[in-house]
Amino acid sequence: MCIRDSYVPADLVQPRVALAVSGEAELLNRTTAAAAERMFAAAAAAGVTMTLASGYRSYATQTATYNGYVSARGQAAADTASARPGYSEHQTGWAFDIGDGGGACSFQPCFAEQPAAVWAKANAYRFGFVVRYPLMLHPITGYYYESWHLRYIGVEAATDMKKRGIGTLEEYFGLKAAPGYP
Ligand code: DAL
Ligand code: ZN
Repeated sequence: MCIRDSYVPADLVQPRVALAVSGEAELLNRTTAAAAERMFAAAAAAGVTMTLASGYRSYATQTATYNGYVSARGQAAADTASARPGYSEHQTGWAFDIGDGGGACSFQPCFAEQPAAVWAKANAYRFGFVVRYPLMLHPITGYYYESWHLRYIGVEAATDMKKRGIGTLEEYFGLKAAPGYP
């Protein structure tokens, strides 16, 4: 589904969590921010440092981000790693990327082995989050594994998905696999 270029969530706020970024990227919508605060606090209590590495992204920023991937890798590869402008969950304020305390492996495959990612994979559902683009499920989601990208769907739905062993929102909501662009 395409998000119009002028869409900006009305309730963007800065969560009270450790930030590894500044500017618009430190914002989330109010519901997601509150859940993130609870999750980061629980991670810290478990001895895991988690940082907010990228939250809200405007349409203009997503355009620059996506174009950067296209320049570096070509369009086909870019489409497996970055949403086109108007298609990123980051524009909704419902999704964000996490980093590890030391910043190790940020946005790289090896982030999956960092404590923040390991803890999030096991515990994020308790705060209403899913790891939105899981390992090996790119034929369904359209994107390669992003162990850092969390999407808020609410505790009830996230717990239900976990219990039923459903890995993707496409399967959970009965959406078409790996939708292409119009
Ligand atoms: N990296 C994710 C897919 C995004 O661009 O929203
Ligand atoms: Zn992301």
